[in-house]
Amino acid sequence: MRVGILGSGLMGGKLGTIFARTGHEVTFSYARSEQKLKALARDAGDKARYGKPRQAAEADAVLLAVHWSRVDEVLDQAGNLPRGVVVTCSLPMNDDDSDLVIGHAASGAEELQKKIPKAQVVAAFNTVPSEVLPGVYAARRRARRPSMVCCADHAAAKELAAELARDVGFTPVDAGPLRIARYVEPFALLVAQLAYSGADGPELAYRFERLG
Ligand SMILES: NC(=O)c1ccc[n+]([C@@H]2O[C@H](COP(=O)([O-])OP(=O)(O)OC[C@H]3O[C@@H](n4cnc5c(N)ncnc54)[C@H](OP(=O)(O)O)[C@@H]3O)[C@@H](O)[C@H]2O)c1
Repeated sequence: MRVGILGSGLMGGKLGTIFARTGHEVTFSYARSEQKLKALARDAGDKARYGKPRQAAEADAVLLAVHWSRVDEVLDQAGNLPRGVVVTCSLPMNDDDSDLVIGHAASGAEELQKKIPKAQVVAAFNTVPSEVLPGVYAARRRARRPSMVCCADHAAAKELAAELARDVGFTPVDAGPLRIARYVEPFALLVAQLAYSGADGPELAYRFERLG
């Protein structure tokens, strides 16, 4: 699969690197320095390159991994992504990342879908801290994998995101339509609270169990 990364920071850099190592053709884009993009592409191996957001958007799936305040700018640079699958891990946070600016009756993922109505938005990868991703990938052959909730209104797009989640080492969990992101996004803040408070470190993922 060709995967374009819009926002090559903590999430985009790590996920893009893992996608490339699992054989996907990855294009990193959107960082403040071209040197950083170049280094990311070099370190991620033969399947990775870097470019402008517009080039990254020419892919089977695009990962949107920017701060909420930068979404409009990066979409603009990407040519507004008229069609295609957009997997978003971006959370609708305020400027100092202390709170959600959208919630309960809407979600960042639904707002994003409104901005790019012809695209197929999937909310995924937004519920774990970036620090856990290398560990999840390293443990991908274990039977007990952590979960990753995915929601979207388009089944094929959701399956594509599920495939990427499997590649990273998660068991994807189909959480239903995109409107469920209203509940997923606050859950992501719970995970962040558990990850970043306390002394146990941020390498935290979660796993759902159905008993009976
Ligand atoms: N970090 C997490 O653990 C985590 C977990 C779940 C969800 N999320 C969500 O995922 C999204 C991405 O988070 P992140 O932690 O990966 O953010 P990040 O590390 O700040 O990455 C954002 C990327 O955007 C780039 N960028 C910012 N301003 C720019 C500008 N003016 N011009 C060009 N590039 C610019 C940054 O460039 P530089 O690389 O040069 O800084 C960076 O590559 C956010 O919406 C966040 O809420 C994050």
